[in-house]
Amino acid sequence: MLSIAPPEDTESLDEADALELWDGVGAVRLLRRDDSRRAILMERARPGTDISRLPDEEAMAIAVEVGLQLWRPADAPFRWIGDEVPRWLDNARRDGRPGSELIPIASERYAALGPIGRDTLIHGDFHHHNVLDAGGRYVAIDAKAMLGEPEFDVPPFLWNAAPYRMRPDVTERRIAAFVAAGLREERIRAWAVIRGAYLGAEPDEVEVLRALV
Ligand SMILES: Nc1ncnc2c1ncn2[C@@H]1O[C@H](COP(=O)(O)OP(=O)(O)O)[C@@H](O)[C@H]1O
Ligand SMILES: [Mg+2]
Repeated sequence: MLSIAPPEDTESLDEADALELWDGVGAVRLLRRDDSRRAILMERARPGTDISRLPDEEAMAIAVEVGLQLWRPADAPFRWIGDEVPRWLDNARRDGRPGSELIPIASERYAALGPIGRDTLIHGDFHHHNVLDAGGRYVAIDAKAMLGEPEFDVPPFLWNAAPYRMRPDVTERRIAAFVAAGLREERIRAWAVIRGAYLGAEPDEVEVLRALV
C-alpha cells in the first residue's frame, strides 16, 4: 500500500519513523520510505476487516492487545502531546465547535493531570477503523504518532465505531477492558473529556463524557 501525505497534513509527519520503530508489531510493516515525497510504502492489510465488524468485547480485546504492542519507549523525533494539547483546546474554544461546552472542565482536568508522560510512543489516531486484520495478526494503520502516555490513545475507542452513539454502560465496559490491562482509569476518563472537547462531540455524547469525571 502506497501512502503519500499532502503537504498540509502535519499530523502524520512522523508516521514512517513510528512504523520503523514498531517493525510490524502492532502496526503494518514499513517497506520503503521517501521522505522528500512524504511517501510510505507499507504492508497491505486486508481491506474491509477493521474491528468495527466484531462484537464489542472481541474488538476491545484486540484494541488492548494492539495498544500494548504500540505503547513502547521512544524519544526524538516525535513531538510530545503536552506541547500540542493546550493549543488544540484553544483552537476548539475559538471555533466554538460542538462539544466545546466541555472545554472548561477539559481545561481543569488537563491542569489536574500533573506531569504528562513523554517517553512512550502513542498512535495518536487509534480507533476501530484504524485496526485491520493483516492475516494472522491485527495491526494499526494511519498513525499520527507522538510521545505521550497510553491513556491518551483510549478515548476514540469510547465514541467509535460510526454510527454508534455513546452509552454509559458500554463506555464503562470499554474503559474497564483497558484498565484490566494496566492502564490508569482516572487518566483515561480525563483524556476522554479533554479529547472529546477539542475533537468535537454531539450533545448526547457530551452528557456521557461529562459523567465520566
Ligand atoms: N496498509 C493498509 N492496508 C490495507 N488497507 C489500508 C492500509 N492503509 C489504509 N488502508 C485503507 O484505506 C483507508 C484509509 O486509510 P487511512 O490511513 O486510515 O486514512 P484516513 O482514515 O485518514 O482516510 C483505511 O480505512 C483502510 O481501509
Ligand atoms: Mg484512518
